[in-house]
Amino acid sequence: MPQNFLNQKNKILRKSETEFGEVISARALTDMNTAQDAEEIAGEGKYEDIIQKLRANGALSSCVEKVRSAYGHRLALDNFVMTEHDFEMLTVLGLYDMNTLEHSIRTFEIAYRIIARPLAEPSGETIIIGDYLRNAGVSLEQFLRAALFHDIGKVIIPREILHNALDDEEVLVRMFPEENLKAGGQVKKELLQTLYANGIRPIDVVPLKEIFKGEQYVKLLCDLEKRGFSETATLKDVIRMHEPESRRILTSLGYETEGELAGSHHNYKKKAHSHLLNTPFGTFGVADLIRIADVTDALRSARWYKKPLSPLEALFVLVKDAEAGKIDSRLARLWVRDQYAELRKGDALLAAASGNGRQFELQEEMRAIEMFLEKK
Ligand SMILES: [Fe+2]
Ligand SMILES: [Fe+2]
Repeated sequence: MPQNFLNQKNKILRKSETEFGEVISARALTDMNTAQDAEEIAGEGKYEDIIQKLRANGALSSCVEKVRSAYGHRLALDNFVMTEHDFEMLTVLGLYDMNTLEHSIRTFEIAYRIIARPLAEPSGETIIIGDYLRNAGVSLEQFLRAALFHDIGKVIIPREILHNALDDEEVLVRMFPEENLKAGGQVKKELLQTLYANGIRPIDVVPLKEIFKGEQYVKLLCDLEKRGFSETATLKDVIRMHEPESRRILTSLGYETEGELAGSHHNYKKKAHSHLLNTPFGTFGVADLIRIADVTDALRSARWYKKPLSPLEALFVLVKDAEAGKIDSRLARLWVRDQYAELRKGDALLAAASGNGRQFELQEEMRAIEMFLEKK
């Protein structure tokens, strides 16, 4: 068996949980006189143009320094060294959207925990997934860089779309407002359920012009055209583009393996795995490790359209995703078992819920998680 790389000093595993759900301004990364310009440039779309313009207006190096001093310590590991390119990518992410930068760093930290913690089967046998990375043709550094920059391609998404605060029901109402009025919400709920049952979300089908109105739509359409999108693109088409864009950016910087991994962090069911880990507990796609870290953080974080979930709710949704085939269920089982055991320590879960009237839901969620963990 390969040498366990965790014998070295391990900072991330000892770290306390980071704050979830905070909204931070990119202004913190820039001097006041360049702040607006740098943020504006970072919203222009193509990564290479953003870097070139930030460099030309003299903002790049000072912003990189601020990012380095604010986040460098969270990324400093014995086996991972941030290059100049890496700090530039992180800076662009922060200038584009600070919450995406924070999400990226937390995904990096969770991905590290997944591969570095001993994960147990019900028999009590454990593995450390990181010990098998080399056999999959991926170094620890490549894995962590792919986790950190899985969403670098998000810069191609206009901020109006990223910051869209409509949830699924609200998107649907933009398309069928009269049905909602006629049936007191019942038709809306039924329609939503029919869509979900067919694996469809309203953002897959509702045209952008129904979601964004008037002048905002005209401006957005113009912006999307500049970024190479067709005028019939749906919200999902635009959002999905970040995955191949992450691959393109990383590959163009010479990070080919990272590009392959980051370029497959969504759509678990559809993708072909380029890097497979053979472990005694089964064969896993390396990109799926990043996907689980990504989903774990996304569930625990606030987004423009949703509140953060509690640790237990997040595990419950992860279980639902695994059962629906959206993430690798064997990998999810290993991770959920570990995280659930952490949450159960001292039964703090039930105590925490006793004051907020959620005991019933909580027990249902725990039961669903436990049933999932019992399956093979
Ligand atoms: Fe993503
Ligand atoms: Fe992500």
